[in-house]
Amino acid sequence: MGKGKLIVLEGLDGSGKTTQALLLAEALRARGFKACYTCEPTYWRVGDLLRLHVSRLKRRSPVYEALLFAADRYEHVAREVRPKLRRGYVVVSDRYLHSSLAYQGASGLSLQWIKRINFFAPKPDAIILLDVPAEEALKRKLKGKRPGKGFESLSFQRKVRKVYLKMAEEEDFLTFNGLKPVGELHREILGEVLKLLRKH
Ligand SMILES: Nc1ncnc2c1ncn2[C@@H]1O[C@H](COP(=O)(O)OP(=O)(O)OP(=O)(O)O)[C@@H](O)[C@H]1O
Ligand SMILES: [Mg+2]
Repeated sequence: MGKGKLIVLEGLDGSGKTTQALLLAEALRARGFKACYTCEPTYWRVGDLLRLHVSRLKRRSPVYEALLFAADRYEHVAREVRPKLRRGYVVVSDRYLHSSLAYQGASGLSLQWIKRINFFAPKPDAIILLDVPAEEALKRKLKGKRPGKGFESLSFQRKVRKVYLKMAEEEDFLTFNGLKPVGELHREILGEVLKLLRKH
């Protein structure tokens, strides 16, 4: 009975994480792996609170948000990630620790402090970054929505992308060009993940 693997998908809002995470978990299951999809923020108590807070508050507080995301992650890890890893699952998480680092880091918080308050989070076995320009990510998010929503966030999204790319250089990320078509990206990601799973 092997220990599982934690594979996380990271990137801007609209970069294609959910699309690729679902395809990846499905493809792994089709190949006989025990694999599951999970996401942050969770749909448990703190996750719901976060969604409410983030969508409603006019004035943002990066510290408050970082603490809430960490609390939600604590519940995610305790209730979902660790139990599944123990049972040998490949856990595919749509956002994880590096989302906190990128977003709250882009809001000006120290990455060291964010890492500290997330000390309990198991280290991912692979971090997949879907890199797209902020403009493209926003365009995808706004497709079919009323115009005028979200444009104020473009400069923030650019900052977030910068933090992601810096971390990708410093740590061992698997970075993919998120502008490629869904199917092509999926095959590339699956190829890298299978390589990793066969190594162990
Ligand atoms: N490679 C791609 N090329 C073009 N469009 C894409 C691609 N991947 C996803 N999309 C589309 O972009 C939109 C956002 O995709 P998705 O929901 O997967 O992104 P996300 O990273 O999960 O966003 P969020 O962080 O907001 O949850 C969807 O309409 C999706 O169909
Ligand atoms: Mg998503």
